[in-house]
Amino acid sequence: MEKVIEVQHLSKVYGTHEVLKDIDFSVNMGEVVCIIGSSGSGKSTLLRCINLLEKPSGGQIIYKGENILDDKHDIFKYRTKLGMVFQQFNLFNNHNVLNNCVVGQVKVLKRTPKEAEDVAMKFLKIVGMEQYLKAKPKQLSGGQKQRVAIARALSMEPDVMLFDEPTSALDPEMVGEVLKVMKKLADEGLTMLVVTHEMGFAKEVSDRVVFMDQGVIVEEGSPEQIFNHPTQERTREFLKRTLS
Ligand SMILES: Nc1ncnc2c1ncn2[C@@H]1O[C@H](COP(=O)(O)OP(=O)(O)OP(=O)(O)O)[C@@H](O)[C@H]1O
Ligand SMILES: [Mg+2]
Repeated sequence: MEKVIEVQHLSKVYGTHEVLKDIDFSVNMGEVVCIIGSSGSGKSTLLRCINLLEKPSGGQIIYKGENILDDKHDIFKYRTKLGMVFQQFNLFNNHNVLNNCVVGQVKVLKRTPKEAEDVAMKFLKIVGMEQYLKAKPKQLSGGQKQRVAIARALSMEPDVMLFDEPTSALDPEMVGEVLKVMKKLADEGLTMLVVTHEMGFAKEVSDRVVFMDQGVIVEEGSPEQIFNHPTQERTREFLKRTLS
């Protein structure tokens, strides 16, 4: 199996607080990996280190066999290979739905506006937002905004999509529509790394589940292993707390 991203001995320190400790972990092409764990365990920091929104304090990040932390590597180009979806959507509020999905393609990938629109339309259809091209973000529900944010990230045609709790800021009735889109993408073979509190999604959709606690990966395995046969006491306690 081809590894897309490989993290080796990754650490992140804020002041004296070691938020990530010697993290080893990888994502294979076409795989859906869910990261679960309690608040403050370092899940977002790990994603932010992977896309270099944070500078790791130590360790390596290998992208398709190349160490992206060495000085000669083009970080800018690497970032375009990763699509990021945040809890808070982070749409451009002054742009309509279509433009949200077009601007990055034109600016960063140097596509013509026409090419970019065609690509954007393809992904807006996939997320079911093709009826709202002219709408501004403030006219959309949370679930709709998040689906546009997903289409925007996909429009850059990244190798991997990173999601950081994409449904945590949504009203409960809108969680389903976003998870459904994510499941569809997973079924189509997109490589996805998803931080989530949605245990049903992690159980049903992921190929592998990673459980983090206090800056370390405590346990990882298939959903069946992690949810039905966890070997670590900390995993069992977390699941008991979360699933009850
Ligand atoms: N910029 C920062 N400066 C200092 N400490 C930080 C910073 N960002 C995160 N931390 C600390 O790092 C730890 C891990 O935070 P992180 O946001 O990665 O956790 P998380 O697992 O994503 O939690 P949640 O489920 O609440 O989103 C926390 O103790 C947090 O306070
Ligand atoms: Mg977080």
